[in-house]
Amino acid sequence: MDFFSGILLHWYEENRRDLPWRNTVDPYLIWISEIILQQTRVVQGMDYYFRFTERFPDIRTLAEAEEDEVLKYWQGLGYYSRARNLHAAARDLMSRFGGEFPWSYEDVRSLKGIGAYTAAAICSFAWRQPYAVVDGNVYRVLSRVFGIDTPIDTGEGQKRFAELAFSLLDKERPDTYNQAIMDFGAVQCLPQSPDCLFCPMRDKCAAYREGRIDQLPVKAGKTVVKPRYFNYLHIKCGDRLLLSQRSAKDIWQNLYEFPLIETERDMEWEELVKEKRFLDLFRQAPEIKWRRQHPVFKHVLSHRIIFARFYEIEVAGFTDAFSSYLEISESELEKYALPRLITLYLEKSDCQGTK
Ligand code: ADE
Repeated sequence: MDFFSGILLHWYEENRRDLPWRNTVDPYLIWISEIILQQTRVVQGMDYYFRFTERFPDIRTLAEAEEDEVLKYWQGLGYYSRARNLHAAARDLMSRFGGEFPWSYEDVRSLKGIGAYTAAAICSFAWRQPYAVVDGNVYRVLSRVFGIDTPIDTGEGQKRFAELAFSLLDKERPDTYNQAIMDFGAVQCLPQSPDCLFCPMRDKCAAYREGRIDQLPVKAGKTVVKPRYFNYLHIKCGDRLLLSQRSAKDIWQNLYEFPLIETERDMEWEELVKEKRFLDLFRQAPEIKWRRQHPVFKHVLSHRIIFARFYEIEVAGFTDAFSSYLEISESELEKYALPRLITLYLEKSDCQGTK
């Protein structure tokens, strides 16, 4: 066990990535970077980190912003609950902690969207407190080096890995150690084709010795990916169009989209127009002047595949039938936070009159 942190820290000295959030001990900036990096790769997250922290440089600025604007800055990153939680936690920090980041792990952990991993990252990077991070990288590195096949998605696995991670942590330098193990997982001990040939842990690595690199870490349950079928009605009248805000407890909460009819299975236009929700919408609606159908978009999220059909529909005017929607002009569209699926459609489909 003793070999681990020595080899790791030596590797890190020679291979560390120079990342902007590593040159600060400001807990706010560390928090933002860690939330962005939770489900986003470093290369993609970097631009978002710069843009977000430029517009919201501190807790107060973020707390005083409108949620819509925060979501707009998150547009394209996915997992939008991360942005809503950041915003809610910033407001909580203002009211409960006078706008300062609390120092204690428990207080940090009590903020919305901050779990054990993020609290450990903030407390160790900002204040060198001895908390060990355990994320996907850490599970991979530890399960391989120590040959542990307890599934990582079980209570037992989580406990075992958390204990091991803490016992290995360099308590004098928890900040450097935590960064090092994450980089080691991200650069050297990759999920597929890890660089075992040039790995300084190779002689000590149980999985390498036993030829089990591709079997570790173990997961008990595979995620079931369910299909969903979205039919978007991109209803337009000249340069005006309709939007609605997603509010249900569902994906893309509070983001904007075109009027949507979700169906149990994939439907063509001829079937869709017989659906009650379509008839309710169009029964008293003005005449459809023209309609254009776009190829089906297949959009993959972590637990869902969305098959989306988009229909561009030009109507003679917006009547009361559409009063529950927001009517905007095309030039205003860029102000709204849209799911990536919608921006992809707008980019790819060369919609008539919509840039
Ligand atoms: N992934 C999550 N946190 C990270 C960090 N601080 N540096 C690099 N990659 C990360």
